Amino acid sequence: MGGNLSKYAPIFLVLALSGILFLLRNIHTLERWNCQSVSSLYQLRSSISSVLKPAGQFLALDHNQTFCLHLGQEPSSEEAHEERYLLDSIAWPGASRRGVPVRKSSDPAHSYFVIQPPGSGQATWRVGGKLEVLVHMQNFLGQPKRYGGDFLLARIRSPEIGAGASGRVVDRRNGMYAVELPLLWSGQAQVEVTLVHSSEAVGVLKRLREERPDRVYFKSLFRSGFLSETTVCNLCLPAGPKQAALCNYTDSHTGEPWYCYKPRLLDCDTRVNHAKGGYKKNLLTTTESLLFASFAIKAPVQALGMDNITILPAIKGLSLMHRDQVKFMPPGYYYQGSWRPLSGMPIQQFNDSSAITQCLSGKLFYMYGDSTVRQWFEYLNAFVPELKEFNLYSPKNVGPYMAVDSVNNILLTYRCHGPPIRFSTVSSNELRYIANELDGLTGGRDTIVAISIWSHFSTFPLEVYLRRLRHIRRAIARLLDRAPGTLVVVRTANPQKLDPEVSLYNSDWFSVQLDAVLRAMFRSMRGVLLLDAWDMTLAHPTQPHLLHPAPDIVKNMIDLILSHVCPDKQEKKS
Ligand SMILES: *[C@@H]1O[C@H](CO)[C@@H](O)[C@H](O)[C@H]1NC(C)=O
Ligand SMILES: *[C@@H]1O[C@H](CO)[C@@H](O)[C@H](O)[C@H]1NC(C)=O
Ligand SMILES: *[C@@H]1O[C@H](CO)[C@@H](O)[C@H](O)[C@H]1NC(C)=O
Ligand SMILES: *[C@@H]1O[C@H](CO)[C@@H](O)[C@H](O)[C@H]1NC(C)=O
Repeated sequence: MGGNLSKYAPIFLVLALSGILFLLRNIHTLERWNCQSVSSLYQLRSSISSVLKPAGQFLALDHNQTFCLHLGQEPSSEEAHEERYLLDSIAWPGASRRGVPVRKSSDPAHSYFVIQPPGSGQATWRVGGKLEVLVHMQNFLGQPKRYGGDFLLARIRSPEIGAGASGRVVDRRNGMYAVELPLLWSGQAQVEVTLVHSSEAVGVLKRLREERPDRVYFKSLFRSGFLSETTVCNLCLPAGPKQAALCNYTDSHTGEPWYCYKPRLLDCDTRVNHAKGGYKKNLLTTTESLLFASFAIKAPVQALGMDNITILPAIKGLSLMHRDQVKFMPPGYYYQGSWRPLSGMPIQQFNDSSAITQCLSGKLFYMYGDSTVRQWFEYLNAFVPELKEFNLYSPKNVGPYMAVDSVNNILLTYRCHGPPIRFSTVSSNELRYIANELDGLTGGRDTIVAISIWSHFSTFPLEVYLRRLRHIRRAIARLLDRAPGTLVVVRTANPQKLDPEVSLYNSDWFSVQLDAVLRAMFRSMRGVLLLDAWDMTLAHPTQPHLLHPAPDIVKNMIDLILSHVCPDKQEKKS
C-alpha cells in the first residue's frame, strides 16, 4: 500500500502546489491518498486565510451571492404575491439601524418590566382574563431606549402545578413593549420576560443572513476506483473564469438548486456523499461581537416590584372578558404537565405503550425532515416495545430509519430532508427532497405524514425557505387530493439554547422568522395539522429551551398527534 502511494507522490505534489491559490477560496482536497497531506492542506489553507483575514474586520464577499433565489418551480402569480406579502409581514422594525455604540444597545440588566393593574375596573385577576405587563428597555448607561426591535419572549408559569403559557409581545417601537399573558388557571403565577437579542444584535443577524449565507458550508466526497476528492458544495456557488467548473445537481422535479465544485480528476457522477463542511468564523467585528456576549443573550429582564400575581377562579356566570380583550389566545397551555390545546381536538394521554400500539395499529407513519422530527421516531421506537427497528445499516443520527410491528401492521419511517441538510455524512443516493418523497406516497386513511424542516435553513435568505416550503405545500396538496384521508402534520420551529457562537448560525431570531413564514403558509391548509412546537417549548413551566426539546415535551407532541389519529369516540359523539 505504502509503495503504491509513493508512486503517486510527485503527481500529488504538483497538484497540491497548483491548488494552493485555488484553495484560498475553496476547500478542495485530495483525500485518501495520504491522510496527513490532506490535513496539512487544510492547515495551510486556514493559516493562509487567517493571514489574509484581518481579525475583527468584516471581509466583504468578492462575488455576487444571490443564492439561486429565482430557481425552482415557477411560482404562480398568487404564490409570488404571497411571497412579497410574507416578506413584508416579517420585516423587523429597527433592524437596519447601524453604528449604535454598544453602551447604547439594550441591556437586559438595566431593563425592567412592570405588572399592570387588572384591567376593566377589576379588583383582581381571574381565570379567563389576561395579565398585562409593560417592559421598559434601557441601554448599558441606564438610559431608556427610544426605538424598538428587541427580540423578547414572555411566559407565565406556576411550576408547582405544572402550568405554563406563553405571552404575546407587542413592540411599541419606542423602547417599550406591551406583553399580554392569558390567565388560564388559578393560584400563584410568576411572569418571566427574556431578552433573546437586543435590536442592535438583530441588526447584525439580519446582515449576516443577507451577506453571509455561506457561513455554513457543505462538502461532498467524489470517488472512483482508488481516486477520491472532496469539494465544496452549496445552494449556489460563485462561478466564473477564475473558479473551478461546477457540478449541477439541481433537482429535476422541483428545480431546487444544488452545486458542488467539480473535482479536478473525477466526473460529477462520482459523488458519493454529502456532509456539513463547517462553520465560517470571524464573521463579526470586535464591536459587533460584544452585542453577543453571554450576558446579553437570552437574559432575564427583572420585574420592578412584583413578578407574580394571584389568579382567582372565574366567577360562574359572569364573563370577565370583554370582546376586545380576547384578541390574543395562545394555541394551548400546560396544566399538570400536560399540554392542553385551546382550540381543536381535545388531547388524550397515551401513557401506556399498548394505547399507542392500539392507536397506530394498521398505520403507516412517515416522518421527513430534520432531527426535530427524528425525535418523534426515536421516542416511539424506544417507548413501544412491539416496534422493532429494522437494521438498514444507516449511519447514526442520519438515517433513513425504519421500525415495524408486523403483528399490528405498524410501519414507522424517518428520512432526512434534502440539501442544505447539515448532517454529518449522508450518502448521495439517500439525498431526497420532501416534495418528491410525498409524490411517491399513495396516502390514505392509514397514512400519517409528519414534516419538520426549519433549522438547516437559518443561514439562508428567507426566499430559499419560502421556495422549499412552496414545493412541499404543492406536494401535500397533490397528496391530499389523491388520498383525502391522509393526516399531514407540519411541525413548527422551536426556541433553543443560545450562546454567542450558536447565535450567529442558529439564533432563535432566524428561527422565529422562518417559523412565521411556515405558519402563514400552512395555517389554513385543510387536512394539515400545524403542531406548535414553538409554543409547546416556550410555555413549558420547567423545561429549558433546547434544539431538541426534552422528552417531556416530545411526549406531549406525540399525544397531540395520536389524539388526531385516534380521536376520542366519546368526545366525537358529544
Ligand atoms: C447580483 O446579481 C443579480 C442578478 O444578476 C443582480 O440583480 C444583483 O443586483 C446583483 N447584486 C449585487 C450586489 O451585485
Ligand atoms: C443547472 O441545471 C438547471 C436545470 O437542469 C438549470 O436550470 C440551471 O441553469 C443550471 N445551472 C447552471 C449554473 O448552469
Ligand atoms: C412574589 O414576588 C415578590 C416580590 O418580588 C417576592 O418577594 C415573592 O417571594 C414572590 N412570591 C412567589 C410565590 O414567588
Ligand atoms: C398520564 O400520566 C400523567 C403524568 O404522569 C398523569 O398526570 C395522567 O393522569 C396520566 N393519564 C392517564 C390517562 O393515565
